[in-house]
Amino acid sequence: MTGTTPTLPVFSLAGRTAIVTGGAQGIGEAIVAALRDSGARVFICDINPDVGKATAERLGVDFIAADVTDSAAVEAAFDHVVATAGRIDIAVNNAGIVHNHPSESLTDHDWRKVLAVNLDGVFHCCRAAGSRMLAQGGGSIVNTGSMSGHISNFPQPQAAYNAAKAGVIHLTKSLAGEWAGRGVRVNSVSPGYVGTELTQRGMDNEEWRRAWLAGTPMKRVATPAEIAPAVVFLASDAASFCTGTDLVVDGGYTIW
Ligand SMILES: NC(=O)c1ccc[n+]([C@@H]2O[C@H](COP(=O)([O-])OP(=O)(O)OC[C@H]3O[C@@H](n4cnc5c(N)ncnc54)[C@H](O)[C@@H]3O)[C@@H](O)[C@H]2O)c1
Repeated sequence: MTGTTPTLPVFSLAGRTAIVTGGAQGIGEAIVAALRDSGARVFICDINPDVGKATAERLGVDFIAADVTDSAAVEAAFDHVVATAGRIDIAVNNAGIVHNHPSESLTDHDWRKVLAVNLDGVFHCCRAAGSRMLAQGGGSIVNTGSMSGHISNFPQPQAAYNAAKAGVIHLTKSLAGEWAGRGVRVNSVSPGYVGTELTQRGMDNEEWRRAWLAGTPMKRVATPAEIAPAVVFLASDAASFCTGTDLVVDGGYTIW
């Protein structure tokens, strides 16, 4: 066979409108590019306007500044998408942070900060997306979980992150159950280690890097572009019978 393989129509996102939180860089940026390449009109929503605007300009998409911990700002961001594009079909709730600190001396502030972004923020975005999608008769929500929602990472301490990601996976199932009969699907993608700013500190640490690669059967970290197609799948009609599922993309980390 010669030539390129055309995209199966069921994977096409033509005519769909999408929002990606944490879309300024890293995994979110790759998701923005993949959704755009699949035909969607995409809005990046990020707390960092400098990087976010530059990425949006480079990718030819729109940018909205919002902190996902601020539910009023999240509502305003979704209002902006609907006012501009007329509807919201896909919400990728991907913004996240990590904090590595031993739990015996983790402060209330640091615990709360991680939970506020990684769990409260995902709920704020799911609620904003779900209410609008239910009103318009359908939509697809994809949350970024993590293999850390299934296993506890080694050797770095990150209990708040792991607990928040387990929460994201179960929140996803809970919302999927509430909305399954009304046209709104809710799924998550759980990456293993991916080369981004979030993991740079760990990759620069010889002990952590060795442990991470030793624990990954494929013996490497992923590129952000290797995570994005899983999101396109769940966002698209190709996943029309998937709801409440968590798609693990981890190079095999969780099989051992
Ligand atoms: N990199 C990995 O190995 C890995 C593995 C599993 C899961 N994840 C998850 O993938 C997601 C993206 O991570 P990444 O590796 O691309 O990280 P990253 O640090 O490169 O990007 C995170 C983005 O989120 C934005 N952001 C942070 N706090 C925000 C807030 N309060 N409101 C709005 N935007 C905010 C940042 O500005 C940034 O653009 C996160 O949820 C992370 O937990 C990452």
